[in-house]
Amino acid sequence: MKNGFTKDFLWGGAIAANQSEGAYLEDGKGLGICDILEVGKKRLLEVDMNLKDNCYYPSHEAIDFYHQYPNDIKLFKEMGLKSFRTSINWARIFPNGDEATPNEEGLRFYDKLFNELKEAGIEPIVTISHYETPLYLVKRYGGWDNRKLIDFFLKYCEVIFKRYQHQVKYWMSFNEINNVVKIPWLAAAIDVSEDEKPAQRMYQAAHNMFVAHALATKKLKEINSESQMGVMLSLSGIYPDTCHPKDVFGSFEFRRKSLFFGDVMIRGEYPSYSKRMFEELGIDIKMKADDLDIISSYTSDYLAFSYYLTTVYSHTETMKTGTGGPVGKTNPHLATSEWGWQIDPLGLRYVCNELYDRYQIPLMIAENGLGGRDYVNKTGEINDLDRIDYLRSHLLAINEALNDGCEILAYTWWGIIDIVSAGTGEMEKRYGLIYVDKNNTGKGTLKRIPKESFYYYQAVIQSGGQSLMESKDIY
Ligand code: BG6
Repeated sequence: MKNGFTKDFLWGGAIAANQSEGAYLEDGKGLGICDILEVGKKRLLEVDMNLKDNCYYPSHEAIDFYHQYPNDIKLFKEMGLKSFRTSINWARIFPNGDEATPNEEGLRFYDKLFNELKEAGIEPIVTISHYETPLYLVKRYGGWDNRKLIDFFLKYCEVIFKRYQHQVKYWMSFNEINNVVKIPWLAAAIDVSEDEKPAQRMYQAAHNMFVAHALATKKLKEINSESQMGVMLSLSGIYPDTCHPKDVFGSFEFRRKSLFFGDVMIRGEYPSYSKRMFEELGIDIKMKADDLDIISSYTSDYLAFSYYLTTVYSHTETMKTGTGGPVGKTNPHLATSEWGWQIDPLGLRYVCNELYDRYQIPLMIAENGLGGRDYVNKTGEINDLDRIDYLRSHLLAINEALNDGCEILAYTWWGIIDIVSAGTGEMEKRYGLIYVDKNNTGKGTLKRIPKESFYYYQAVIQSGGQSLMESKDIY
């Protein structure tokens, strides 16, 4: 097989501030929307905006990346990473979100972080808001369905774009913006559990975020025309269950509900099918006169997406939605992870081609990974062979997509170091190639241990992908 990875391919790893940094009130930081989420299955379903005593909130310490980042970056360098995706925690820069001036101590933290990465030869890729709206904004103004958030967001963007313009080239606005209509608390800071018409609020929030993304892109280019702004979508794959036309068309329509977000933010206009979609949902989006012009003038430079799994759509069953993507019927041809996510490397090649055909802009695989339990053996090693297999097969699928002609800038393995799970708050749903000694109740030394997968990825990166070509069975 031909090695499709070029010399400048950004082999990388990814995390998010709220899942890793901890130090949740340190150096002036305010509370973010994830800081009130407890561990457990109901985490995303029941939102209690006030912190309670005697509850465990995983984000408060997380893996203490805030203090341990210099050592962690040393490990990333040793692994050979060329890029590292993380987010800026908005509430470190504007603790409430609506202040007149930013918090200098928060800004200083990211100065140090990005400098350390640059010195290690690692390109930072920065998410501006990875489920990280300041909680105060929600309490005072409501979430993203209030247009006022556009101005607060733009002010935050202006500050960070100016401050980090020489360190950061690749930006993306909102993590998995299509999750606004699936997990609205995380993605749009709106709690719709009591709403009679949740879709109205969710699509209004999405519209406001489209305008915010476009205006942020405008600002970014004014500050540094070389910078790149990406849209970030959750795009795990979906197949029809049978050739029954209702399965085929149903899965197509279901997929389009996610692609809708790319259509607006890449093509620059509400797609024709959205008129009927809004009519059927009884939605009336409030817009200002120049909103559509703004959206069409400042579109995205690249498409970043997360891909974890594929699922199966059947017109007779309801789809469930989690952080990894929608989950429908079980596919009998695929293996399933401990958390019920079905592993499908060929699906990644399929999705890359689907997206590149549709948009013809560079792609970035901003999240891909396997969450599972790990065990430290008697000699202190972690032999995570399943993770190696997942990594290898997905990289091979990317190689095929590159050979198919897709333009792919980067691959950033999700949870390159063990972090808190977004969906459940567990530590024991581990993605890392680096182990962190901490459990679901918050106990542990926080010691870091490279897993076997660390050395595997290191060898792949060192060979520029060539070592993958020697593996025999692909999928
Ligand atoms: C993505 C999110 O949806 O899925 C991440 O962007 C998240 O923040 C990842 O961690 C995996 O989901 P989980 O629930 O296993 O952490």
